[in-house]
Amino acid sequence: MFSPKKILSFLLDTVPITNASGPKCTYYEELKELEKACIGAIVTKTMTKLPREGNPKPRLKERLDFHPDCSINSMGLPNPGVDYYVDILNKLKKPVIASVGSVTDLNEYFEIINKLQSIESVKAFEVNVSCPNIEKKALALIPEKLGELLNTLDDMKVKYLLKIPPFNFDLEFFERIANIVADSNCLGVSAINSLPNCMDIDLKSLTKVIKPRKGYGGFGGGCLLYLALAEVNRWYSFFKEHGVDKIVIGVGGITKPEAALKHFLAGASAVQIGTWYIQEGIAVFEKVWNFITNWLKEKGFSKVEEIIGIVKDL
Ligand code: DHB
Repeated sequence: MFSPKKILSFLLDTVPITNASGPKCTYYEELKELEKACIGAIVTKTMTKLPREGNPKPRLKERLDFHPDCSINSMGLPNPGVDYYVDILNKLKKPVIASVGSVTDLNEYFEIINKLQSIESVKAFEVNVSCPNIEKKALALIPEKLGELLNTLDDMKVKYLLKIPPFNFDLEFFERIANIVADSNCLGVSAINSLPNCMDIDLKSLTKVIKPRKGYGGFGGGCLLYLALAEVNRWYSFFKEHGVDKIVIGVGGITKPEAALKHFLAGASAVQIGTWYIQEGIAVFEKVWNFITNWLKEKGFSKVEEIIGIVKDL
């Protein structure tokens, strides 16, 4: 029987926390470091078919001056290409969720997945349809193309999550996309990618803080929490109301353990951490897990599953 929870048991029954695709998960040494972290799976940097240098530097501002737990990046998908991952992913001793992207067409996704599908450590794919930093429009914003992508992935019998952008700008559009996702065999969504096209200014140099794309990049970190919670809760409620067996992985704004708790209450079955991991390294995952397990005990819950989506309306 199709059950995302069974398929993702390596994550949900162990530690329902992973790194977010992006920071410090591109090269073998970085992925090896993540092997030591308190996470249920290692997520890779979004890979493309061919190696990419990415955008010109500086392309990441790790700490914004007014909101130091926030970041802006326009990396532009720097990665060594899928063949690199074919060689190294099998050496990892934790389950891997391989993040895949495309800078050309839909076939790029299928070619990458075909190369990785038989690798033992790769338990699922996170299909990135929301990269904010390349010239192409995100696929999650083109319903017909997204439908075509999901149909083919289903035909290929791929186990996949979708990394999606926020849809707060148009809730009717959200419903349209959510119906396409609900009709597919995807395991669920990782909500959300960084908020596209944000900008900051350095008051000493009077310049923008990153170079590529006229200084516009994806915003992440603490301030993203409120958008991410609403997106997680909307996807969770949609799946529940439509009787769809899919999970939501919460990502965005987790820069303290309590934020992860809010993600679970909003409807996340697992959470991912990006900006906080860039800033403080692998210790952040254990901090979150210790806090969550203590909180559950204190409140009389026996497992995380009991608190997923239990937030009440006022
Ligand atoms: C990049 C940024 C993203 O938010 C993403 O989902 C994929 C790639 C990047 O610029 O490399």
